[in-house]
Amino acid sequence: MRTPFLAANWKMFKTVDETVTYLREFCALTAGVARAEIVVAPPFTALRAAADVTRGTNVGVAAQDCYWEREGAFTGEVSAAMIKDAGAGYVIIGHSERRRLFGDTDEWVKRKIGAVLASDLTPIVCVGETLEERDANQTLAVLDRQLDAALDGLTPAQVGSLVIAYEPVWAIGTGRNATPAQAGEAHAHIRARLRGAFGQEAAEACHVLYGGSVKPDNIKDLMALEDVDGALVGGASLTVPSFFAIVTGAGRSV
Ligand code: 13P
Repeated sequence: MRTPFLAANWKMFKTVDETVTYLREFCALTAGVARAEIVVAPPFTALRAAADVTRGTNVGVAAQDCYWEREGAFTGEVSAAMIKDAGAGYVIIGHSERRRLFGDTDEWVKRKIGAVLASDLTPIVCVGETLEERDANQTLAVLDRQLDAALDGLTPAQVGSLVIAYEPVWAIGTGRNATPAQAGEAHAHIRARLRGAFGQEAAEACHVLYGGSVKPDNIKDLMALEDVDGALVGGASLTVPSFFAIVTGAGRSV
């Protein structure tokens, strides 16, 4: 069975000091959690501090984005190699806020995933439909398009090592999360798509997370779904008690 995977996406929140204070307290609590992969994604400025505080603990560190070139004249960008150097092990790629507010395309997502893998980091690849796309019955087609573009050219072993996050855009920060039926359908579809393109072993190994208004009081119902392996949590990951309650509530085999 896949290990439950709980990731905190802090977005543009927390200074270096706030990151260190949070992680000292959080890591003390998670020390007793036996079987879960736990990852926190602070802003770039706090990556190094987060890596230092979490060293030797069971909490990993992720960046929230990267650029696909290794170095060069790309003002404002940060490469996967630099993220690795800062001590992170994961990079979130293709978050809907990047796609919607900053113009990340399917092609860019693919290039960024390639760069992350080339630096021996684990991509957390976000996919998900907008409300208009859901209302137009396009959800599964959108997921197919995003997945096919993102994973194009990867080997089954690479796909097996990935984390994919299904985040319906209309559920992000809205307090409105997908019903178990909606999440279950999307997750089963993603798993089937992976199986069809990369084989049973890769599909079974890949973690598929749900994201969008995950809270301590809805994590259990989400984790009860067969193809939901964990969660990518925004707002409810910003305080230690709330994110820790989500980690413990993820139940199943935590
Ligand atoms: P919320 O949990 O705040 O809805 O955010 C979800 C998200 O975008 C995580 O990446």
